[in-house]
Amino acid sequence: MLPIRVFSDYEALSQAAADWLTGRLRARPDALVCLAAGSTPAGTYKRLAQQSTREPSLVAQCRLIKLDEWGGLSMDDPATCEYQLRNTLVDPLGLSDRYIAFDGHSMVPEAECARVADWLKQNGPIDLCVLGLGVNGHLGFNEPADALQPHAHIAKLSAHSLQHPMLQQGFQRPTHGLTLGIADIVQSREVILLASGNAKRKQIRRLLNSDITPVFPASFLHLHPAVRLFCDEAAATIE
Ligand code: GLP
Repeated sequence: MLPIRVFSDYEALSQAAADWLTGRLRARPDALVCLAAGSTPAGTYKRLAQQSTREPSLVAQCRLIKLDEWGGLSMDDPATCEYQLRNTLVDPLGLSDRYIAFDGHSMVPEAECARVADWLKQNGPIDLCVLGLGVNGHLGFNEPADALQPHAHIAKLSAHSLQHPMLQQGFQRPTHGLTLGIADIVQSREVILLASGNAKRKQIRRLLNSDITPVFPASFLHLHPAVRLFCDEAAATIE
């Protein structure tokens, strides 16, 4: 059974996740931290940035790697994962020298995936992996499929992903995704999956009861020995 902690609301969930990350960064200051973007971890990152401003040693040595990115968008488009991570953590905390990220606007996305995969091969594994949950069970852009890819790759975006609210803030439509693979996630030393709101309730229930199957990529978290699910009540309430 996946270990799940349920918090009263989004604020409490975000505080608990930020506290967990803070504790882990104190214990392992040079941790490689993988970051999902999207609305769910936004509150966690805001609190982590506030704590790091009070306690600069928290992020003095850590390295950050972006989990995934929309392909075909300029990296200053407000819809991008880049925009969110740069504005909430990377730039305010001065971490750009220790930030590894897909350039989603690359004309040669295969080369971009190979660059990130090589970097991770040399510098991995990920120590702390922060994930959100797609409404179709995706992790990053590891979309439901007959088979999942282990490492960084170009993803064909699902119809669900193309309706993601992030894209409403942007100017362009993505043509593909770039994402770390399911093995990169499962090989992370520790994983924390965050889920908030009614919209994730069905997926959390499915995750807790699922067999391991590529048609529901989050189910691969059952293979991980140190995964944590942090949910708010809206996401975790089983009717
Ligand atoms: C997006 C991203 C994921 C993210 C997920 C959930 O499409 N590819 O990295 O974790 O969907 O996003 P949200 O937290 O906004 O619901």
